[in-house]
Amino acid sequence: MDKIRIRGGHKLNGVIRIGGAKNAALPLMAASLLTDEALVLSNVPHLADITTMANLLGQHGVKVSLEGHSGDDGHAGRTISLAAGKITNTKAPYDLVRRMRASVLVLGPIVAREGEATVSLPGGCAIGTRPVDIHLSGLEALGAEIEVEAGYIRASAPKGLRGAQYVFPKVSVGATENLILAACLAQGETIFENAAREPEITDLCECLIAMGAKIDGVGTAILTITGVDRLHGAEHAIMPDRIEAGTYAMAAAITGGTVELEGARLDHIDAAAAHLRKTGTMIETCNGGVFVSRENTDLRSVDVETDPYPAFPTDLQAQFMALMATARGTSVITETIFENRFMHVPELQRMGAEVTLQGNTATLRGVDQLHGAPVMASDLRASASLVLAGLAADGVTEVRRIYHLDRGYERLEEKLRIVGADVERVEDS
Ligand code: UD1
Repeated sequence: MDKIRIRGGHKLNGVIRIGGAKNAALPLMAASLLTDEALVLSNVPHLADITTMANLLGQHGVKVSLEGHSGDDGHAGRTISLAAGKITNTKAPYDLVRRMRASVLVLGPIVAREGEATVSLPGGCAIGTRPVDIHLSGLEALGAEIEVEAGYIRASAPKGLRGAQYVFPKVSVGATENLILAACLAQGETIFENAAREPEITDLCECLIAMGAKIDGVGTAILTITGVDRLHGAEHAIMPDRIEAGTYAMAAAITGGTVELEGARLDHIDAAAAHLRKTGTMIETCNGGVFVSRENTDLRSVDVETDPYPAFPTDLQAQFMALMATARGTSVITETIFENRFMHVPELQRMGAEVTLQGNTATLRGVDQLHGAPVMASDLRASASLVLAGLAADGVTEVRRIYHLDRGYERLEEKLRIVGADVERVEDS
């Protein structure tokens, strides 16, 4: 197994190209199940989770073909064609689903198209219990019968799904996506209230509309979907990864450097940008992306609370904590989305961070200097937080279990090296 070795203390300087968003790509790939024509997605990131979804779709009968690179330097994302002429298998097995929680996104489209779907209960990052009850109650509202038995969810609607009014009891990104996918082929009108509003959901809706779906209220918490008999193929470019962009913005800030995030969209990371500005970091739109710089200013402590979009994303909480570990003063970080998303704390403490935990709140007293140490990644974004801490620390940091990183960050060490970091991937002996 590989590990990442970082010799800290180098300011980042240069251009980092931001890839396509993993969290947009996964539901978009699942959308291919809704039509017998090809869905062609460009700007697809090269990540382990994308391969897992491609394998899952493949075993449902989707013809998956990689159509080379969509950019000219070989690094600008790939194009993938997904053609579900016939769904040959409506079951998503444990072996594939356990690798990635987002696999459950095949449930809505398969039951909508085939009248039946059986999907293993998902696994994924160890950041809380993460149930799928909302996905299931929403499908029930659309007329599906749901049974959960022996680790599998079986949804059936032999006469097809029916439009309904459904109020999400809690904002859920995945459940909103699953139910949007399902409602596109339901008979009649569906009204969703308290839907998640993440940009990835807007990206999904835009692609579905290009495939012939009728969706009103895109980008808001109330979505009205008028079911259609069939959807057709389309071409769609996946939005840039806002979490990758936010992570590298924080990497620039923690090292006191200056980077341009090529292809990133500042309007997708407004809340994170507002917090970065309060730390003393400059962040603004520039030609073709986002410009981030913190030169000659001290990092100031800022409190943060995670909440659904457009508030500060939980997926940037761990990275922001690394930043606050070296800021002047005290900051309070409150995690409201997941109940167990502080697993990076003991690892950051090994590097000298002063953090106390109480319930869903972490209080940090910034230290002058973090120190390199061997640390262990526990989940995807926690891994990124340890890398950021390593960039700012003195000495050598080695991050183990980086398969978590490979699920969500494309060529991380290469991108960081380009802007001057001393980072390498080495075999863990
Ligand atoms: C998605 C993102 C993930 C991000 C999260 C929150 C993808 C592939 N993953 O995950 O990176 O951290 O949104 O922004 O897009 N919940 C329930 N019942 C359900 C569904 C969710 O109680 O049926 C709870 C979850 O346990 C969690 C909260 O709702 O506490 C939000 O989860 P959700 O928005 O569904 O996250 P994911 O879609 O899994």
